Amino acid sequence: TKVALVQGGYTGEAEVSFKSAAFVYAQIDKEKYDVFPVTISVDQWYHQDQQGNQYPISKEDFSFQREGEKISFDVAFIIIHGVPGEDGRLQGYFDMIGLPYTSCSALTSALTMNKGYTKAVIQDIPNLHVAQSVLLFNEHRPEAVDLVTAKLSLPIFVKPNAGGSSIGMSKVTDWTALKQALDNAYDAENTGQQVLVEEFVTGREFSQGIYRDTKGELQVLPATEVRTTREFFDYEAKYTPGLTEEITPADLNESQKANADALIKEIYIRLNCKGMVRIDFFIENNTDKFYFIEINTVPGQTAQSFIPQQVRAAGKTETEFYGELIEAALQ
Ligand code: DAL
Ligand code: MG
Repeated sequence: TKVALVQGGYTGEAEVSFKSAAFVYAQIDKEKYDVFPVTISVDQWYHQDQQGNQYPISKEDFSFQREGEKISFDVAFIIIHGVPGEDGRLQGYFDMIGLPYTSCSALTSALTMNKGYTKAVIQDIPNLHVAQSVLLFNEHRPEAVDLVTAKLSLPIFVKPNAGGSSIGMSKVTDWTALKQALDNAYDAENTGQQVLVEEFVTGREFSQGIYRDTKGELQVLPATEVRTTREFFDYEAKYTPGLTEEITPADLNESQKANADALIKEIYIRLNCKGMVRIDFFIENNTDKFYFIEINTVPGQTAQSFIPQQVRAAGKTETEFYGELIEAALQ
């Protein structure tokens, strides 16, 4: 089976993508799968082999030529976070050329890349809560400060509505900092133009993976609790080893765990997900309410990322897990 491991992308998360793809590459069973890293950037598509030789990838059918031989893939393992691998663009292209892929459909990917729209679609799930928020479009920019202060109370999070890895995101604890925070989010490269501003939830922060196995059953992975000493779980905290305490499996009581597992499954079903996804949420102090933050349809796979920790806590190896994802995509 020939696997294109698709990495790179157009956003600031490309750096994360390369780390994720290197980790996946190292873990995939190379006896069973022929793995070809394929990089997609704004101006180039190419495969680079382990010796550093580069081969351009045809946009016609995603194949490449090596010593007069045409190499085509059986499946694409998408490890691009953000545009164009997590937002439905590549998914639509792979649908057009008939190449199976590991992640969610074009529609689900496009919807879930938009944090504000996603909340609107799932917020009526029983027992699911969402933070008070304001979704701002480019047209709202001149009056954005007023729109936010009229509706929300501090502290608030200001983020690009279609971003990831906390790039362009700020926590605002003082209204005087709001204008700059909005500018940072609006101007984030390739993810800006829409800004989501959300009220802070006083509680514990978690992230939890789920995937569909080769028998078609939903498998919820153990949750991870995030305890950061920084102002919030920002880019540095996410990718610098040791800056954040990450507890997998999270210490949740039976009813908290059952509620989270049921909601994670229902979110996966409602959004018609495929492959592995990861859902970030808070459990509010005192009330135990589950607050949905966002869903990641190409969750990070760096050595610091949650899914690999959760897979190990579930008693599997990453090698088995990535093999299962490939097999499920091929069905
Ligand atoms: N957006 C990053 C890669 C994540 O969700 O893990
Ligand atoms: Mg994210």
